[in-house]
Amino acid sequence: MASSDKVLIFDTTLRDGEQAPGAAMSGEQKLHIARLLEKLNVDVIEAGFPISSQGDFDSVHAIARTIETSTVAALSRAVRGDIDACVAALKPARRSRLHTFISTSSIHMRYKLKQSPDEVHERVVDSVSYARRFFDDVEWSCEDGTRSDPDFLCRCFESAIKAGATTVNLTDTVGFTTPEEFFELISQILNRVPNIDKVRFSAHCHDDLGMAVANSLSAIRAGARQIECTINGIGERAGNASLEEVVMALKVRAGAYGVKTGVKTEFLKELSNCVSEYTGFVVPPNKAVVGANAFAHESGIHQHGVIMHRNTYEIIDPADVGGEDTSIVMGRHSGRHALRRILNQHGHDLGENAFEDLYQRFKQVADTKKSVSDDEIIALVQS
Ligand code: KIV
Ligand code: ZN
Repeated sequence: MASSDKVLIFDTTLRDGEQAPGAAMSGEQKLHIARLLEKLNVDVIEAGFPISSQGDFDSVHAIARTIETSTVAALSRAVRGDIDACVAALKPARRSRLHTFISTSSIHMRYKLKQSPDEVHERVVDSVSYARRFFDDVEWSCEDGTRSDPDFLCRCFESAIKAGATTVNLTDTVGFTTPEEFFELISQILNRVPNIDKVRFSAHCHDDLGMAVANSLSAIRAGARQIECTINGIGERAGNASLEEVVMALKVRAGAYGVKTGVKTEFLKELSNCVSEYTGFVVPPNKAVVGANAFAHESGIHQHGVIMHRNTYEIIDPADVGGEDTSIVMGRHSGRHALRRILNQHGHDLGENAFEDLYQRFKQVADTKKSVSDDEIIALVQS
């Protein structure tokens, strides 16, 4: 694959992810997650927003001091004081990135910034060129990009690139866009903005309509080569695009997307567990890739299938994401194949009549509860 087929993974669990209400983590916990993200081999770790608090500043500084291979990024508004705080926080980093943003939508400019498009444009140029005095690697983001006027968006992207941005990032800050619309917008930007092929184009999606992952994948199809995402999809409101879902979609459906990431997917489950523990955000059992039921089967037809050949009902090998092996959960929908397998595993070989009798008694028990454990099944055998 050519280098243009590599998609960079920009993890923002420690910045946008932690902005989820109730997700705050201690500095030590954030440092541990940063280490796991480096082990996962993500390209960029957005460590925090140094101007926002002393705690954030300290944890960006500690992460910058510790991380060796991933780039460590810090966020700033289009304000020189914010950039100065990032300079100080990122000082010990081996590889650092300044990430600066400003809103470009009419609603944000009028009601939040109370500035005209020309004033905002001036701040884009000033913030990026000021940041370039300190950093070789500068990312510029248009906040609320998908609700911005495309002409103004193109003007800002062009000026950010002229001022020295090395990555430009289109955000779907409020999770408003659709995969088709996002594809069209990115195609338009990539066609219209001079020199955009000289920088990296990135996408940053939120999940308000449950489309953050689909929109990120659509961005890749349109030409984006960096995706911003978080572990378990945590983030503001409904969250960000889930890193594990984007990465596994690109891996499992490599034929459809034709790009690769450098992520060592076998560490995904470990990170998911850790982020869940530290934030207190429980991963729903049916969550794709890392949910407890992602590789569990309860119904007889599916159990029969996976016992015969795992791929009948699983498209991901659990080992590929560091998950536990395929599990057969015995419940009211389970069938004889799975029951027979459990008996064999425990060294019981029942004749046809005894087995059928056991199966009927198992079904009676299963009808009264959510699942039946191996121990309960063996107790039925012994009774
Ligand atoms: O959602 C968003 O617009 C952001 C920016 C600060 C990049 O998180
Ligand atoms: Zn965001």
